[in-house]
Amino acid sequence: MISFIPETKTFFLDGKNFTYAFYVSESGQLRHLYCGKAIEHDDLRYSETCGASSRMASAPGRNDIPAYRTSYESYPPEITFFGTSDYREATVAVRNHTGDSLLELSYEGYDILESKPKISGMPSMDGGETLIVHLKDRYSGFDADLYYTVYDDASVIARRIVYKNGGSEKVRLERAYSFAFSLPSSREYELISLYGAWAKERHVDRTPLPHGIISIDSKRTASSAVLNPFVALVEKGTTESTGNAFGFSLIYSSSYALKAQKNIDGSAIVLGGVQDFDFGWVLESGEEFETPEAVIAFSCEGLGGMSRAFHDAFRNHLINKRFVNLPRPLVINNWEATYFTFDNDKLKAIVDAVEGTGIDTFVLDDGWFGKRDNDRSGLGDWVVNEKKLEGGLSTIIDYVHSKGMNFGLWFEPEMVSEDSDLFRAHPDYAIGMPSRPRCYSRNQFMLDITREDVRDYIVDSVNKILTENKIEYVKWDFNRNVTDSYSIGRDPERQSEFAHRYALGLYDLCERIVNANPDVFFEGCSGGGARFDPAILYYFPQIWTSDDTDAEERTFIQYGTSLVYPLSSMSCHVSICPNHQTGRTTPFSTRADIAHLGATGYELDTTTFTENDRSEVQKQTAEYRRIQHLILEGDLYRIDDPNKSNFFSETIVSKDKREAILVSYRRLGSVNNEIYRVRVCGLDPKRRYKVLELNRTLSGEVLMSVGVVPSFASGDFTTVKYHFIAE
Ligand code: DGJ
Repeated sequence: MISFIPETKTFFLDGKNFTYAFYVSESGQLRHLYCGKAIEHDDLRYSETCGASSRMASAPGRNDIPAYRTSYESYPPEITFFGTSDYREATVAVRNHTGDSLLELSYEGYDILESKPKISGMPSMDGGETLIVHLKDRYSGFDADLYYTVYDDASVIARRIVYKNGGSEKVRLERAYSFAFSLPSSREYELISLYGAWAKERHVDRTPLPHGIISIDSKRTASSAVLNPFVALVEKGTTESTGNAFGFSLIYSSSYALKAQKNIDGSAIVLGGVQDFDFGWVLESGEEFETPEAVIAFSCEGLGGMSRAFHDAFRNHLINKRFVNLPRPLVINNWEATYFTFDNDKLKAIVDAVEGTGIDTFVLDDGWFGKRDNDRSGLGDWVVNEKKLEGGLSTIIDYVHSKGMNFGLWFEPEMVSEDSDLFRAHPDYAIGMPSRPRCYSRNQFMLDITREDVRDYIVDSVNKILTENKIEYVKWDFNRNVTDSYSIGRDPERQSEFAHRYALGLYDLCERIVNANPDVFFEGCSGGGARFDPAILYYFPQIWTSDDTDAEERTFIQYGTSLVYPLSSMSCHVSICPNHQTGRTTPFSTRADIAHLGATGYELDTTTFTENDRSEVQKQTAEYRRIQHLILEGDLYRIDDPNKSNFFSETIVSKDKREAILVSYRRLGSVNNEIYRVRVCGLDPKRRYKVLELNRTLSGEVLMSVGVVPSFASGDFTTVKYHFIAE
């Protein structure tokens, strides 16, 4: 619910369990007042503070009262800009035709829309009542429209800014962030980010917010595994279940920046959007620049509440409605079983070995096309390799279908190998300057998808395979990041538009391949989980979480990923031991229990299965099908942080609180060890629950206060699971 109080010129945005408020000052500045638990619409201007510093500059032309009273820097902002008294990190920066960078954005008016208009060519959240506040620089004519969208089923605000050159001369945008968000003074804040690398994605970092500016960013033309496009600011002492937490997640897949600045008065701002390190965007008179949307989650129930706010927002408003709650394919993927070495017989044997186990989809990974015997060749040549797959793709596809299973296929559409027919015919399709040697990564180059002709090639060749064959599932991989950013044929003045144009090119590919094949289930992937972001999630309902499938390592990766992303979005496979990445051996049941905390699948050589393994798999898949509705639609309560403890536990509770599961994991076993007790979270204290494993019925209150004591089998890396069913 969005309202405007004319007497105080205050906007109140009431979302699920929270209120967000700001007002328009008498001089036309937007000043932030509040974001926190839902409150009444009192006149909040009494609480306004302004930093009294004698060194402040006044707002332009204001020498009638002390400078600090008019300075843009004095007040918690909704947007920051440079050159006219605000020295804080700018949300937007321009280079005017006169060569200066002065900007002063003042209030012009507002609109409230029942539902948010779709952003053209970019993924975004759907629906939601939307406020648009119009700001203008009265001297240059430059405009900024600030969008705020609220939802009644998720504690988030979606924000973005549309910049427009409303003047008569050309303007160069040098920064164009999506939002600025103010946090009040007298709190000590801690900053949480998700860092990582290949096979080590989304590990949690938490650090006190110091004075100065911290940047969480990517310059890789991909969101990357190094730092996820997410940051949270929490009040000091915030736990999993208590304290105020503010989360910021960008719906964007290219280079980005999310910054937090602590000011001298103890307040803080968070802002961000498209990376501006190697960015410049020319706006001719009348042209607009649409920024990607940011999703801001609020919780006064700690980090758990913040995560549930993101999960609700993404499941209800971002992920494709057709797939979001659909039981997920239970795949067997051949990658770790064969790598590049396979033929029809080997693949058929893998399929035969899972018959009757409940696995329902076979995914043929890398190596089926072109001259692809290793990772040095073939990318871009999306034509079946008949040396490996005699009779073409249809032989294995028909075989899989004859077993009553679905068929999935791997692509890496954005790439090209130097040793490929495509590169030989069109070397200019690759990103890079013809006069310089390009950088290699995984022995491959990248296609310049900022160009329409290159995108047409990709769309035609991928869609040809998808239309000529009956394929139910696609895994879309992306194994390297951009170097040599340069697009042949683009005006030098516009080369700095490359990284953002790459994102727009990717979204266009997705519209024309993913959305053009609405019955195909798409999985995102990026050399593991290096492009695990909300924009990918908009097109692909699940994303391969990591190439590290070791159950122990997965507790960290899945724990961190769940801070922002719903369990159903994390693709998690049971693989062989010793694990191919870590060399560790963990029990089969543990691998399954940890993989069950996401979209489960298998990735191992099933031809080595014993009868016992097969019946284990059968039990595992049956159990997964039994709990999948909780994974798809339930509320997640993390209980123990594997980074801080020998244990990792999660409860997943159905929205109506009639059903829940608890999975507890113990890393190392020991003799005479401390007894682990888990207080179950998220149940209805007034309900009575049948606890299947204890063969007794207990009240929610007892389970949440007294808890349960998992009895782990002896040894390391073991799990215990409980099911709670309300009477
Ligand atoms: C990286 C992915 O993460 C793997 O699962 C596999 O698909 C390989 N690429 C294939 O090259």
